[in-house]
Amino acid sequence: MCGIIGCAGRDSETLDILVHGLSKLEYRGYDSAGVALAGDGLDVCKTAGEIDDLRAVLAERSPAGSVGVGHTRWSTHGPPTDENAHPHLDCNRDVAVVHNGIIENYQQLRDDLSTAGHEFRSDTDTEVVPHLIEDALADGADPEDAVRAAIGRLEGSYAVSVVLSGVDRIFAARNDSPLVLGIDEDSEARSASEQASGDEPRAAYYLASDVPAFRDHTDRVVYLADGEFVVAGADGYRVTTLDGGPVEKTEDTVDWDPEETGKSGYDHYMLKEIHEQPRALRQCFRGRVDELAGQVDLADLSDLSPRGIHLVACGTSYHAAVYAARLFQQAGIPAQAFLASEYATSTPPIGDALVVGVTQSGETADTLSALREARRRGARTLAVTNTVGSTVARECDHAMYIRAGPEIGVAATKTFSSQIAALNLLALAITSVGDAREVISGLRDLPGAVQEILDTSTAREIAETYRDAESYFFIGRGLHYPVALEGALKLKEITYKHAEGFAAGELKHGPLALVTGETPVFAVVTGDDEQATKTVGNVKEVEARDAPVVAVTDGASDVERYADHVLEVPDTHRRVAAVVANVQLQLVAYHTADMLGRSIDKPRNLAKSVTVE
Ligand code: F6R
Repeated sequence: MCGIIGCAGRDSETLDILVHGLSKLEYRGYDSAGVALAGDGLDVCKTAGEIDDLRAVLAERSPAGSVGVGHTRWSTHGPPTDENAHPHLDCNRDVAVVHNGIIENYQQLRDDLSTAGHEFRSDTDTEVVPHLIEDALADGADPEDAVRAAIGRLEGSYAVSVVLSGVDRIFAARNDSPLVLGIDEDSEARSASEQASGDEPRAAYYLASDVPAFRDHTDRVVYLADGEFVVAGADGYRVTTLDGGPVEKTEDTVDWDPEETGKSGYDHYMLKEIHEQPRALRQCFRGRVDELAGQVDLADLSDLSPRGIHLVACGTSYHAAVYAARLFQQAGIPAQAFLASEYATSTPPIGDALVVGVTQSGETADTLSALREARRRGARTLAVTNTVGSTVARECDHAMYIRAGPEIGVAATKTFSSQIAALNLLALAITSVGDAREVISGLRDLPGAVQEILDTSTAREIAETYRDAESYFFIGRGLHYPVALEGALKLKEITYKHAEGFAAGELKHGPLALVTGETPVFAVVTGDDEQATKTVGNVKEVEARDAPVVAVTDGASDVERYADHVLEVPDTHRRVAAVVANVQLQLVAYHTADMLGRSIDKPRNLAKSVTVE
């Protein structure tokens, strides 16, 4: 998804800060990048390709200015070309705009502007914005009012940031797309050269789609809400409504370290994040579980007592939602998981249902839209998210944080495990589960069990054996069904190979026709209960069709007899086994993609935070 960074108050450092910020936003996925710096004039550099391509362009141009904006673009209108890269300019090249989102009425605006004589250089929806600002300036508005007036004409979703020639301020606004202000008013945080100069310390401000873009400079943030407008310059910042009305904002402090967004010696963020899982899980449990009492305390969430639960989510988070729906059902609460993008067309929630949005980023447009629909229909909403201050956390009636720490790799790994852990806590807190003590002790063992997998996994050998297969199947039952879905999603998104996850019992109803000696089947089977026995039966069906079988198992059933390879998992509580088995599948996906030389942290066509519907 597009990423925005803006900086005011750092003068000669502006360009470096913008480019560094863009590199921190790379994880969101992008296909072109650019910057605009405003001082006495306006300097813009942009290009299709990666940040390194932008650096090469900048090396020849060295633009300078006291304020600036930068952007990584993920194409929605028009292909990834130099012309379509942001920032976009007005006819006079005095106004530069970067934008994340989709302007729904852009065609009408563009037609009107073209008729009035404006010349467009790109295919983007964004380009209407600088031309609208140009018109407002021509009508005599001052820069701030011109930007407000232009943004007021937009329909759709946007985070917009604007700089203008000869103006030492940034203007920005948001509607349905994330935007956060970073505040650096602390002289100690300023550069050594600046302090050595003896100049009065001035404030610096950053505007970004996400905190990692400026986390190296400050931990003080203000999360902007829809309909808000911000002006920032070296002399301070001001947040108002788009019409200029007063807004009370509170500052937050980000509680994670900039170090947490580095690779710490791992080849890829994804591998680092897979290895961070034991710590992330411990963080999720910290202070919430009383093992002696066999209780989970989630403060006011413990009083929710829902009569029915709908979970809405996308992608990996949807798989966590499918898992959680089963937990709630087992505890006697009617529960259902919905793909967020389909929710509006599904059964309406009963008035007293609790609608739970599961989203690591907290900014996924489909999930936000499903939750808004739920609220419109009168439901209470709860966000289960990784991102403090995210739109979902602010819009829902309640929020529960999974505390996984920043996840940079586009493929979700540690956040999936932490979502499962958090949803287990939620289930324990709001339902009466007979075996609560047993579940809690299983959860306590989870970080150690994951560590054991990380220390002993033979997933790399499996990846080596099957790296050239054309198609992969994943099967599981009950709580292992979402693991099969997730195993397949992880493999397909980072290896670009075909992979499907199935409920084990469904194979014989159609997909079995595709199974041949060339189709590795990963079967997740733990324990030796009836479900395990039935899954072993399904394994026999594929084995009889010569399919190579990889059993992800604790060895309790006799699945190993029918498997060509085994990925071992420790003997754990059945709720926890799903997470542990999934870690093996994360490693299979990672090593396969690595051997195939794929772009693991930024798979083609994908974005970390999907802020369009
Ligand atoms: C897959 C992946 C995506 C996300 C999905 C929802 O590895 O990361 O499928 O899970 O886009 O994202 P969030 O959880 O941010 O709502």
